[in-house]
Order: sequence, then C-alpha cells, then structure tokens
Amino acid sequence: MLFKQQALLRQKLFVLGSLAIGSLLYLVARVGSLDRLQPLCPIDGRFGPRGQEEIPLRALQFKRGLLHEFRKGNATKEQVRLHNLQLPKAIIIGVRKGGTRALLEMLNLHPAVVKASQEIHFFDNDENYAKGIEWYRKKMPFSYPHQITIEKSPAYFITEEVPERIYKMNSSIKLLIIVREPTTRAISDYTQVLEGKERKNKTYYKFEKLAIDANTCEVNTKYKAVRTSIYTKHLERWLKYFPIEQFHIVDGDRLITEPLPELQLVEKFLNLPPRISQYNLYFNATRGFYCLRFNIVFNKCLAGSKGRIHPEVDTSVITKLRKFFHPFNQKFYQITGRTFNWP
Ligand code: A3P
Repeated sequence: MLFKQQALLRQKLFVLGSLAIGSLLYLVARVGSLDRLQPLCPIDGRFGPRGQEEIPLRALQFKRGLLHEFRKGNATKEQVRLHNLQLPKAIIIGVRKGGTRALLEMLNLHPAVVKASQEIHFFDNDENYAKGIEWYRKKMPFSYPHQITIEKSPAYFITEEVPERIYKMNSSIKLLIIVREPTTRAISDYTQVLEGKERKNKTYYKFEKLAIDANTCEVNTKYKAVRTSIYTKHLERWLKYFPIEQFHIVDGDRLITEPLPELQLVEKFLNLPPRISQYNLYFNATRGFYCLRFNIVFNKCLAGSKGRIHPEVDTSVITKLRKFFHPFNQKFYQITGRTFNWP
C-alpha cells in the first residue's frame, strides 16, 4: 500500500516537474526570440497611429507571421501593407559551392536580416525574368522597414546577363561573393553533380577525366566546374556595372572553420550593428561543421547535402589545377584587395 502511494507521488512529481521545465523552456524561447526581433532603433509612426503597434514581434520569426496576425484580426491591412515585401538590398550572387547557404542562414541570425529561403533565380532565368520585378518582389518574405531582405542564387555570378539586370533593378545594391580555394570548390561542384547522377543510377566520369583535356593533358577550360572557379573572369564582367566598393568578398574556407569573424565583416559591410555572436554559432562534432543557435531551444545545422565527402583526386591533377588557377587568383586578390592563402 505504502509502496503504491510512493509510486503515485513520484508519478505526480514527475508530471509537475516536466510541466515546470516545459514552461520554463517556452518562456526562455519566447524571450529569446522577442529579443532577436526587437527593432534596432525605434522609428516613430512606422506602424501607423499609436495603439496599433501591438503586433507581437515574435510573429515575424515566421515568414508569413504578419499575414497570420492579419488573418487572426491582430494586424490591420495598413500594417500588412507597411511591413511588406521588400526587394533585396543585398544579394549573395555566388559562388556555387562556396558556402552560399551557410552564409545566408548565418546572416539570417541577425535581427535586421530577413532571408528569402529559396533560390529565386530571377535574374539568370529568362522565363522568370520575363515575369517582371513584381513577380520577384512577391517571392520575398515579409519584413519590417528597418530590416533588409537578402536572397542568394549562386548562378547569378556566372550568368552573362545578370549584372545588367540587377543594375537596372538597383544600381546601389550590395553584392556578396563567397569564395573557396578554387580547386576545392571545383571538386565540391563535381561531387554535387556526381551525387545527382548516382541518385538517378547513372554513371559519371571521374573528376580527373573531366578536369584534364585528354588530348593536350592541360586543364580543360571547357569544364564548367573549372570555369566557375576562375573568379576574376566573372568578377570583371560585374565590374562593368558596379564599382568594387559594392562587393564584399567572403572567405568560404574560413566561414567553415571560424565563421564569426567572417560574419562580423559582412555586418560591417551591410552597415548593420554587430548582433551575431559566438552564442549563435556552435560546433557540432557529429556534423563536423558549425551549426546555428537562435536561442536556448531553437538551433539547427545545415542539411546533409552541405558538407559532402569529396572523392579522392589524383594529386598530379590537383597540382595542375592549382598551377592553372594561380595567375587568376593573383588578379582576383589585386582587384578585390582581399588576399587568400591559396596555393
Ligand atoms: P562541401 O559539400 O563541398 O563540403 P553552397 O551552399 O554554396 O552549395 O556551399 C556548400 C558548402 O558550404 C559545403 O561544401 C560546405 O563545406 C560549406 N559550408 C560552410 N559552412 C558550412 C556549415 N556550417 N555547414 C555545412 N556546410 C558548410
């Protein structure tokens, strides 16, 4: 009998304890996200007449938060109109496999940054471009006026028509380019394509065969993964439209090993107050990468498609590629004013 009573008491204590911990976690999460979403500075009159400012800020954590509030009757049409879909003030234009997703997700930790989750491919895809700028705007997430929207589509960097098209939309837009050591980037690019082929049960060439021209034994400059890594060639096309001051180069190799300083440089470039801290980034030994911490409850790592294991590549091919990229790299350092320790 006594044993039964003790067991019942233990059960009750367990339920009460779980409830208390659950509530505590909820409160901490809520406070964390509220803090994250506070406007950086109060701007009067932004939300219309006083008294209509009561939209819970945490609602914006979700892409359609304000629309949700509108549906529930908590936000007026005017508020929805004011917190509208802004065109991006900064775009991560490339480079494919440079760490573009990691950069976007990490910048999104900043309370004044709102990311477009999907790659929109507006400027590089003729069919999308023909749909017009309002189509593009509608693809953007909701944001407050003090926030900036950022999108990333790595194909922009290498597509001929894109610089002019972006210039026509906003000639003072800020452009972010994340680069990695060119040979590593090319192998990463190959690995992604290889995985796609394997998924479809298709065979594919070895990297060595694609990267080296069998007739000349020289680097195959027709191979897209090689061409994409000649950063200076692409950048020069962009410089016909935008001054170098409008670009910021992110070191993608350093973003993997030491993300915070790279993110702080981007904050500076975007004129954002420094808000991303070491707290927001933690190393996950299982993944072998830094993951994101929004608050005590919400954290996430990038998808498994980021951080693939690369196939082993013949060292003579690696040496040949590095030698090939060397003069282009030197020019890239010279133009951008950012030097990397690439071999
Ligand atoms: P690998 O798969 O070759 O390792 P992109 O998003 O432009 O496709 O770039 C993918 C690359 O981002 C990955 O290349 C990975 O190395 C890099 N990366 C940088 N930071 C990362 C992170 N925190 N988590 C996972 N991948 C990251």
